[in-house]
Amino acid sequence: MGAIEQKDVVFEVNYEDRIPNNINLSEDKQLQRALEAWQPNYLDWWRDMGPEGFQEADVYLRTAVGVDPDGWAVFDHVKMPDYRWGILLAPKEEGRTIPCGKHKGEPAWQEVPGEYRALLRRLIVVQADTEPASVEQQRYLGKTAPSQYDMRNLFQVNVEEGRHLWAMVYLLVKYFGRDGREEAQMLLERRSADEDKPRILGAFNEETPDWLSFFMFTYFTDRDGKMQLAALAQSGFDPLSRSCRFMLMEEAHHLFVGETGVGRTIEATCAAMNKAGITDPYDIEAIRKLGVVDLPTLQKKANFHMSVTRDLFGSEISTNGANAFTAGLKGRYEETKLEDDHQLHDDTYPVMQVEDGTLVINEVPALSAINSRLLDDYIADCQGGINRWNKIIEKAGIDFTLQQPHKGFNRKIGEFGEYHITPEGELVSETQWQQNKDNWLPSAADYEFIHQLMQPCAEAGQYASWIAPPRVGINQQPGDFEYVKLG
Ligand SMILES: [Fe+2]
Ligand SMILES: [Fe+2]
Repeated sequence: MGAIEQKDVVFEVNYEDRIPNNINLSEDKQLQRALEAWQPNYLDWWRDMGPEGFQEADVYLRTAVGVDPDGWAVFDHVKMPDYRWGILLAPKEEGRTIPCGKHKGEPAWQEVPGEYRALLRRLIVVQADTEPASVEQQRYLGKTAPSQYDMRNLFQVNVEEGRHLWAMVYLLVKYFGRDGREEAQMLLERRSADEDKPRILGAFNEETPDWLSFFMFTYFTDRDGKMQLAALAQSGFDPLSRSCRFMLMEEAHHLFVGETGVGRTIEATCAAMNKAGITDPYDIEAIRKLGVVDLPTLQKKANFHMSVTRDLFGSEISTNGANAFTAGLKGRYEETKLEDDHQLHDDTYPVMQVEDGTLVINEVPALSAINSRLLDDYIADCQGGINRWNKIIEKAGIDFTLQQPHKGFNRKIGEFGEYHITPEGELVSETQWQQNKDNWLPSAADYEFIHQLMQPCAEAGQYASWIAPPRVGINQQPGDFEYVKLG
């Protein structure tokens, strides 16, 4: 198929094989057989836990045809169960070395380093588990989609999270033998929010009950995915690095869906307020009557998603984090661009902690603060889209600013897990927390309002009242394009 080859790297994806791939899968019969044995179980899982009610719909999806960042995807109407999930690795960087930790400078591992086998497997399994979890969390959303365009974006995100599972399962099955195959099977058996077999991380057992949650999730929680993938892309274990580098290209679209989804919601709110002559963003009842989401409720939704996502970074001070870094299995965000010794023996990092009832910043050994640093990088990375949202509000002439809550707000894990901290960063008592939490997080009444607002709008080119149409269509399609043909 005219592929440009570079040793084991193929830039074009082979779609002749049962499992699409750019890794010359047919040359590794044992791996091919193992993955082909897993494939029907994966499809069973997709049919059970994938988007409910839309398995027969023709959806305008993009499929990866290459790993060249320009022009890597084609678009076509596809039934989701027929989506060609496959294994795609970014090209190998010749001469790549381990970027951090005690093996820094040694050639990157092409096989699993024996002494770190268990730790590496755990890192891969934890990442892998989030991928099907998000599909499960979002499986009912198709029914209340505010437009075909949005429905299509939801399904695109869903099939790509499925592909991310494939990316991780490939690593488990190829490099971890029998226990890798067992882990691959268990990934299809755990279920989001299941009492007996829940997903591994807390945020992935939360509900994604409505479209605001979906947009907040894709902006804030997929961004945790971006940060974790970016850190794993720095792994000394080269196959993991290459898998994650390709996943990051897909992840960019998920973040786009989140940012523009919230942005378009804000746009609709501001336009409706202006049209009705409402200037006070806290005139909540009047604003809600316009069929849009008031900005204070958006802030509360954002507070919720930011705080549960911050917990995904784990304890700020962590031996596991230190071990993974020192072993060279997981780097920091943009490790290769950082200017230090990449080993951090004598370095410190400022970590916020609670001491005698006040928040203080302590310099702690940098190695043990790897998670804390990635969390700080994440918080900084969140701000760009928030600034762009605020620009929309400002342009509409409304006096309101969306903000990130304090790092310690509503945390269950890490330094702040045992405390109650307000969005402004004030330590408060349990009683004060209980009295005020409905001002900071969505209340039952807020959920009720959002729930009744989420009426489907499935006509091509039409949009629900609470969300503005996008500026451009997917793949430049016109405004009335039929993104989802219901089967
Ligand atoms: Fe993902
Ligand atoms: Fe994602």
